[in-house]
Order: sequence, then structure tokens, then C-alpha cells
Amino acid sequence: MHKGHSAAVLTGLGAWLPPRVVGNDEIAQRLDTSDEWIRTRTGIRERRIADPDTSTVDMAVHAGGNALRSAGSDVVDALVLATSTADQLCPASAPQVASGLGLSGIAAFDVNAVCTGFVYALATGAGLIAGGIADRVLVIGSDVFSRLCDPADRGTMPIFGDGAGAVVLRRGLPDEPGALGPFDLHSEGDRAELLTVPAGGAKQREAADPHDYFVTMQGQAIFRHACARMAESARAVLERTGLEIGDVDRFVAHQANIRILQATAKQLGLPGDRVVANIGRVGNTSAASIPLALADACEDRSLQPGHRVLLTAFGAGLTWGSTLLTWPDVKPG
Ligand code: ACO
Repeated sequence: MHKGHSAAVLTGLGAWLPPRVVGNDEIAQRLDTSDEWIRTRTGIRERRIADPDTSTVDMAVHAGGNALRSAGSDVVDALVLATSTADQLCPASAPQVASGLGLSGIAAFDVNAVCTGFVYALATGAGLIAGGIADRVLVIGSDVFSRLCDPADRGTMPIFGDGAGAVVLRRGLPDEPGALGPFDLHSEGDRAELLTVPAGGAKQREAADPHDYFVTMQGQAIFRHACARMAESARAVLERTGLEIGDVDRFVAHQANIRILQATAKQLGLPGDRVVANIGRVGNTSAASIPLALADACEDRSLQPGHRVLLTAFGAGLTWGSTLLTWPDVKPG
């Protein structure tokens, strides 16, 4: 292990979506909503929903395998799984993902920062490399968030979708394309109630009301905090590098709502054509959102090697954070 070079460099990218496409009309058949409402209020046209036999671990294995293929090597020393829908409350899901990839024996653990999970997991992977603990790290975001949604709740069901995305990080030089950083990470636990699953955890195993096993969300408050915090955090990483918003070629933010993406870009003074948006076809996929958006932008060629990319996310907790990289010559595997 060489500790001289401390940057974590992105060297592989993978995505995986469950095959079942659920369009807005299908949701509108079951709930008091409409394709028009969902499209205009959220930007979502369809989302993927995992079948009952497919879990967070299964999706993570698919996306992780694709990222390793993209990196051209399946050698990694550690696996960090960002998820808030682990297969079990205990143990963590990451060791099962590692075993599923034939990587049994490596360090593997979960990071739960809900929709900010992928940015937190990237920072964790970069920290393992900077600390000389690992040379190559597989970072995966995988969530079956649809399972936390009350099938009768029109406030959450239309928004969330399932999926997984992953990247491989390797030890490299800070000025190489793909080098991550700086990072800006925050949390505010006083506002945990804005998006929470009240029961089923270790504090309250049994729900008094069955609805308490599902997510409750104060949408408008989350909306306001998401825009303000993502803009604040994006500015913080730019300031630390001496860059300006005009230096950003692609803004890849957590895909929660197209109006959140647009409002945040407006607050930052960022032209709309630099905002990467795939929410229309995947919905809010929680920890998988950023790598899925990166993969889609690579596929449609709107993300090119050499682009300066600003990643930013906001999620339950509350949590939020950002980082920067120059896009390397990497294609989804
Ligand atoms: N279909 C039709 N009408 C609806 C629906 C629906 N699915 N949902 C709400 N409405 C109605 C409301 O009842 C309300 O009606 P009223 O005016 O008669 O009272 C009206 O639409 C407006 O409701 P709002 O809640 O004000 O709608 P808003 O424009 O805020 O959109 C939404 C709601 C989409 C939830 C928005 O607030 C949002 O995206 N918030 C952020 C959510 C988010 O990002 N969550 C994830 C955070 S990340 C994580 O960690 C998981």
C-alpha cells in the first residue's frame, strides 16, 4: 500500500434498475392522483419497482458487478454500501453484497445517510484511501425505498423508485481526472421528524398504528431545506477550491424533484443546461440516485471526460453534502 498519494480517483461506474417499469397512470389507477399532477409537481414520468424477491443486497450486487467491470478489475480492499433499506435491521447488508460479488473477506459495512448516503459513502471510501487503509474501494448506493412507502399514501408512493448504482475508487493523484474532493458534509438531527419511518426500528419494534411502519414525510418543509442546503453546500466546496459556479460543467444533484433541481440551480446561478436530470425515468432512488444519474448522463453523452462535475445531495436525517471531480474517461460497465 502506497500512502504517498492520497487522492481517491473514480475509475469505474455501474448501474442497475429493476426491470418493472411503473408509469404514473398505473399509480393513478390505485391512488387519488394523476399523471399530470405527478409530472408537473415532481418531473417524474415513471419509476422502477423491484419485485418482491429482489432486495437491496441483490440490486447492490448487480450494480457493484457492473462497476467492477467498468473499472476493468475486480480487485478491491473494501466495500461501502450506502443504504437506508438494508435487508435486515441487523446485520449490515454490505458483507452479503461482498460475498455475492465473490469478495468475501474484504472490509464491508453500511453507511446510512438516506438520500445523502452516496456522498457520505464516497467520503468514507476516500477516507479509507487517504488513511492508507485501502487502495481500492467499491462504493455502492442501493435502496428499495418503495417498500417503505405506504401503498395508500399519494404523498410518497408517486415519488420513490428502486435501484442501485456504484463506483470504484482507486488510490491516485489529486490532480488526475476522477480525483474526488474536497467534501462538505452536514447533518441536523433536530429535524429528523421531517422524513421518518416511526416504527420497526430498535427503539419501537411494534407499531401502535400499522401506518407507522411506513415513511411519513413533510414534503414542503423537505423541499425548502433541500434547496437551501444543497445550494449552501455546493457553494462551500467551490469556495474551498477557489472555483466559481461558472466553472461547473455538470451539476449532478440528488434526484428528489425536478423543481428542487431547478430551484437549487437558480439559487446558485447555474444555467439549466448544466443540470443533469434523470428523475423523469427513475423517480427518487435515495442512495442510488447520484450514480444512476451519472450513468444515464454518460449513456446519453451529456457527461463527457474533462467536465467538471459538482455532486450534491440532501436527505432525511437531515443530512446533506457535496463534492467535486473532473469526469475521467470512464463509461458505465
Ligand atoms: N396527487 C394529487 N394531489 C396531491 C398529491 C398527489 N400525489 N400529493 C399532494 N397533493 C395535493 C395536496 O393534498 C395539496 O392539496 P390542497 O392544496 O388541496 O391542500 C396540493 O396537492 C399541494 O400539496 P403540496 O404538498 O403543497 O404539494 P407540493 O407542490 O409541495 O408537492 C411534493 C409535494 C412533491 C412531495 C414536494 O413537496 C416535494 O417534492 N418535496 C420534497 C420531497 C423529497 O424530496 N423527499 C425526499 C427527501 S430525500 C430522502 O432522504 C428520502
